Parts: sequence; structure tokens; C-alpha cells
Amino acid sequence: MKVLVTGGAGFIGSNFIYYMLKKHPEYELVCLDALTYAGNLSTLKDALQNPKFKFVKGDITDRTLVFDLFKQENFDVVVNFAAESHVDRSIENPEVFLKTNILGTQVLMDASLKYNVKRYHQISTDEVYGDLPLDKPELMFTETTPIHTSSPYSASKASADLLCLAYYRTFGLPVTISRCSNNYGPYHFPEKLIPLMIINALAEKSLPVYGKGENVRDWLYVEDHCKAIDVIIHKGKVGEVYNVGGHNEKKNIEIVKIIIDRLGKSEDLITYVTDRKGHDLRYAIDPTKITNELGWYPETKFEDGIEKTIKWYLENKPWWQEIVSGEYKNYYEKMYSDR
Ligand code: NAD
Ligand code: DAU
Repeated sequence: MKVLVTGGAGFIGSNFIYYMLKKHPEYELVCLDALTYAGNLSTLKDALQNPKFKFVKGDITDRTLVFDLFKQENFDVVVNFAAESHVDRSIENPEVFLKTNILGTQVLMDASLKYNVKRYHQISTDEVYGDLPLDKPELMFTETTPIHTSSPYSASKASADLLCLAYYRTFGLPVTISRCSNNYGPYHFPEKLIPLMIINALAEKSLPVYGKGENVRDWLYVEDHCKAIDVIIHKGKVGEVYNVGGHNEKKNIEIVKIIIDRLGKSEDLITYVTDRKGHDLRYAIDPTKITNELGWYPETKFEDGIEKTIKWYLENKPWWQEIVSGEYKNYYEKMYSDR
């Protein structure tokens, strides 16, 4: 089986590549990634040693490049992680979100149709459902919760989901969609809450908490997300959406205090800053469908996952220090300039 993984130099895509190379050593994996600011080829340096893995630098919106790649490789499965993923950036500059997240998805699906891909899997997000109130803990997102987006990021992801379902119904493209809650774990880009707080705390820098820190996210260890995708591409039903979540809701301020405590730092580092515009209050995924139909459930307890994550950041300082310094951008040149 040959699998195209787009966006595999980012956080979840790279974790998925390592997971799949281990779980299915007979599969061939090709990663297509534009290496935007969020893509870091050094993350894949161990995978690049594996003869079953290949990296291609390219943009999913580049129709010619994508069609040539599909023609050449004859993929069985496509898993699309490639996206602009940071909500704050979408508020500053929405345009690239629409281009990559919507038009890029369309290009991949057009190529999947033309070259008879057996499964196109779209990595989506719980943010397509908008948010839930803080005072109704019994409410959760199910797959039938209406789409109701807040940010340009979530609107672009929801648009892509609708387009996927349209390609299934209109053209018969065998699509599946997963909508996952907040991931955490190794290789998480340090603009996102958990890695940013770990790295700032280590440097005794201030920890910027938006608003009052009361917003709630449902955290899932990234390996559990990878397991869910693996099970969906093998056993999921085409045309279906699967929610994936950790049953692990935490206020942002709780997360920040857990990190401070684990690193032995002072809560004086916490700085409450102006809230994010349109800030979603609470996300909570109900994963009953994927559990009942496909047998998946979140295996990693938050206490264990956050311990592993903090330990990973402590043991892999060069990885994030090169991001903070900007040095990581030179990795592609170093690896590929004379090939
Ligand atoms: P990320 O920002 O860490 O990585 C995105 C990757 O996509 C990068 O390697 C980047 O170079 C690549 N990319 C961006 N634009 C591209 C383009 N036009 N062509 C080719 N490659 C391009 O993102 P992530 O956090 O790993 O998220 C991956 C996917 O999962 C996204 O689709 C995101 O919406 C979704 N998601 C993320 C989370 C989360 O908590 N991080 C939760 C649910 C869903
Ligand atoms: O729910 C899934 C989504 O989770 C994914 O679709 C997105 O790609 C991913 O980025 C993530 O979105 P969030 O906006 O929830 O993640 P972020 O890490 O940016 O923020 C988490 C919470 O922490 C959010 O309520 C905003 C807050 N925050 C974030 C940052 C970066 C702060 O208080 N301070 C910060 O500095």
C-alpha cells in the first residue's frame, strides 16, 4: 500500500509518519509538504533514513505538481494534514488559510479522483462546530452538531469538510473525515499553547494567558490521534465523519499551572493579556461513534501524556531552539542542495 501524507513536516503529520512506519513497515509513505514556517524537515530526519519513506517539497495548491506526483506514484490512500493551522495567524491574515485549506483540498481531491485513489482522508478539527458555553458541561459535539464557525481558520476547515462531502456525493470520491480536538505531544510548533508555555517557562519568560484563562480545550495525546486515523483509513465507512477526542477538558489556566508546577517555576510568570478576537469558549468532543463502530478510544491519560511531552521538550532542546532561532529553515537546503 502506498500512502500520501500531506503536511507531514508539521506536528501531527510527522507523528503520523513515525507511527505508520512502525505500525505498517511494509507500507510506502510519501510526504508532500511546502515547508512553510510550520514545516520542519529536521523533524523527519529519522524517517528520511527509511527506504520506505520519501519526502517531496511542494504546495498542495500547485495543481501541476500535485497531478504529476499522483501520476508518478499511484497512491492508494491520501491523508491530508497540510493546512494553515494557527487560529491567531488566521485573524491577522486569513487569505492563505482560504487558499491552502480550501483550494489545496480541492486540488488533492481532483487528483485523487483522476488517479483512482481508494481512500481520501481529510484531517479536520472540532473547531468546525464553533464553541460550547462554559456553564453547560453536559453539552458535547457529536457528528451531527451543526457547523458554526468562529475564526477564519475554522471557517476554512469547515469549507473543506463540506467540499469533501460534496465530492463524495457528487463524484463518488471515497472520502472520510476526522474532526479531532486539541492535540499535544512531541514536535508541536512553539506558537501553540503547550509548547509555548514550556519553552517560555524554561527561559523564565512571561506566560501570556489570553483573557482570564477560563477557556476550555479537550486535549488528546497526538499518538492517540494517529491511532484513530489509522483505524479510520482501514475500517472507516466512506462518506462518514468521525469525531476524535480525549475526554479530557481543561481550562487554559490549569494547563499553564500544571506546566509551571512540573518545571518548578513561579506563577508570577503568568501574564494575562488581551483576549483572542472571537475566542471560542469551550470545545468538548463526544467520540462515541468511533468507539462503538471502530473500537478506538483515547488510551493516554493526560497526566502521563503531559509528563511525556514536557520530558520530550527537555530532552530535545536543539529541535525547538532551532525553531526559536530560525535556524530550522536552513535544514532543507543542507539536506537537498546537492541532490
Ligand atoms: P502544523 O501547522 O504543525 O503543520 C502543517 C504542515 O502543513 C506544515 O508542515 C506545513 O509546512 C504544511 N503546509 C502548510 N501549507 C501547505 C501547503 N499549501 N502545501 C503543502 N504543505 C503545506 O499543523 P498541525 O497542528 O500538525 O495540524 C495538522 C492538521 O490537523 C491540520 O489540518 C489541522 O487543521 C488539523 N488539526 C490540528 C489539531 C491540533 O491540535 N494541532 C487538532 C485538530 C485538527
Ligand atoms: O481544537 C483543535 C484546534 O486546536 C486545531 O484545529 C488548531 O489547528 C490548533 O491550533 C488548536 O487551536 P487552539 O486555538 O485551541 O490552540 P492554541 O494552542 O492556539 O490555543 C489553545 C488555547 O490557549 C486557546 O484558548 C487560546 C489560548 N492561548 C493560546 C496561546 C498561543 C493562550 O491563552 N495564550 C497563548 O499564548
